[in-house]
Amino acid sequence: MGVLFRNLMFKNHRSWSSLRCYSSEVKPFTSVPGLSSLPILGPIHHFLPVIGSVGPRPNFYDLAKVLHEKFGSIVKLDGIFSRSSMLILYDPKDFDQVYRSEEPIPSRPGFDTLNYYRKNLEKSKYEGIHSLTTSEGVHWRDTRTKVNPVLLKPKLVKLYSPLLEEIADEMVQRIKNLDKDARYMQENFDFEITKWSLESVAVIALGARLGCFQNDLPESHPARILIECAKDIINLSWKLEFRPSMWKYIATKNFKKIIKAFDLQWDTSVYFIREAEKKIKERGHDVPEEDKSIIEKLLSIDEKVALAMGNEMLLAGIDTVSFTTIGLLYYLAKYPEVQEKIRKEINSSEPSKRYLKACLKESLRLHAVVPANLRRTTREHVVAGYLIPKGIDVIAPNEYLSKLDEHYPRAKEFIPERWLVEKSDPLYYGNCHPMITLPFGFGVRSCIGRRIAEMEIEILVTKLLKNMKISWNGPPIQVVTRLMNSFRKPFYFKFESIS
Ligand code: HEM
Repeated sequence: MGVLFRNLMFKNHRSWSSLRCYSSEVKPFTSVPGLSSLPILGPIHHFLPVIGSVGPRPNFYDLAKVLHEKFGSIVKLDGIFSRSSMLILYDPKDFDQVYRSEEPIPSRPGFDTLNYYRKNLEKSKYEGIHSLTTSEGVHWRDTRTKVNPVLLKPKLVKLYSPLLEEIADEMVQRIKNLDKDARYMQENFDFEITKWSLESVAVIALGARLGCFQNDLPESHPARILIECAKDIINLSWKLEFRPSMWKYIATKNFKKIIKAFDLQWDTSVYFIREAEKKIKERGHDVPEEDKSIIEKLLSIDEKVALAMGNEMLLAGIDTVSFTTIGLLYYLAKYPEVQEKIRKEINSSEPSKRYLKACLKESLRLHAVVPANLRRTTREHVVAGYLIPKGIDVIAPNEYLSKLDEHYPRAKEFIPERWLVEKSDPLYYGNCHPMITLPFGFGVRSCIGRRIAEMEIEILVTKLLKNMKISWNGPPIQVVTRLMNSFRKPFYFKFESIS
């Protein structure tokens, strides 16, 4: 303890002040409860079928539950194959403390393969390109500072609503036609919703239609390529970065596949960005600032930022939005009385969307596409009496916590009213710690596409409910985690036209 104490004193001045009060009680990181580890392989043996103490788990919710029940409110998982160790904190006070003190330049690791590919394999092609999801430190801060005013502008809704309504109308028509083929819809509803989410985010990012609704969208169509690449990147990143893989030492089959997907996704998005740029130049005259598309505004700030952000919107804005939309439609289908309440709100003389917004919040509480938030410590912390070193991935298991009765009354039930009732009502959402439900993340590094996503979803759901009654005729929907959450097929939705 003496050596540890001395090291701490000299290494980190800021943790000294907190250590003074913990001095005799601060326990080392190695004593945090958690799964035992093998050299190099870490705790991987615990996840083996039959013999593993935890076994394979279909989703992060299940894993978080097992570990919480086994070890309590602070759990350590050593990294596999030299990956950083992870620390799951179940007490919101604890991750609140770490997340807040990691601002204003928080580190969020992820997409190691993409970083490796850009920094080592294609260094010259990506010189000066710093995407938000993958960059860190000042590179991240500089990009974020440049794009924040463009993407978080309140006028966004006014500017893009007409275009998104046009796309939503086409989608409603498409669902009406496709619903006749129940088999197709059961297997492909997610694909159809993904076409809508890509078409929508592209019209915002590029000011152009991609043509995702073309019949039998061929595999060679650039929009189809973007959809397939986004899926491959998520699935392969999961296999390479969260399961045992030798990709850091040899180019495995999956590593070669992901490199191909990175190349194709980048080249395709750059093709669309260049097309948008061409159209802007051909227009030959300037338009008022508020009428400019996002890509036009970004291009006028900095070309590399425009390429990075345009590319990222066409990657991060597809499956996130389709998962969230399917999650909301599922609850509306399961709760016809809630659906009817939204319909009343939509058809009222002064539609406020207040209830619809509450439904989206409630659905995100129960079905978050990102089941847990993550920050990598950039310095030492003392949490719950333990010393947490620099370089540890601190996980907040938000989806799991959001479904516990100790945080929300009747936590597993879909009750949109909890977001609307007065403070005096026991259901009032404000009684819960504000860090429990964070579907769009936290602080300065939270999701930059939040407004865009909410706007797209609200517009589509409004159009759908105006035209159709939605039901679900099958067993409960299942979630699988592969880096992000996704829904397992089949989809048992039924859409019935309201005449
Ligand atoms: C309902 C849909 C969406 C959900 C639930 C969602 C959720 C998230 C979450 C949880 C994060 C991590 C935040 C953190 O670490 O604190 C994130 C980051 C991000 N999201 Fe989203 N997202 C959605 C839609 C979108 C869309 C439509 C776009 C693009 C237009 C987008 C672009 C991004 C980007 C670029 C980041 C990285 C931000 C940064 O590191 O500065 N997201 N999102």
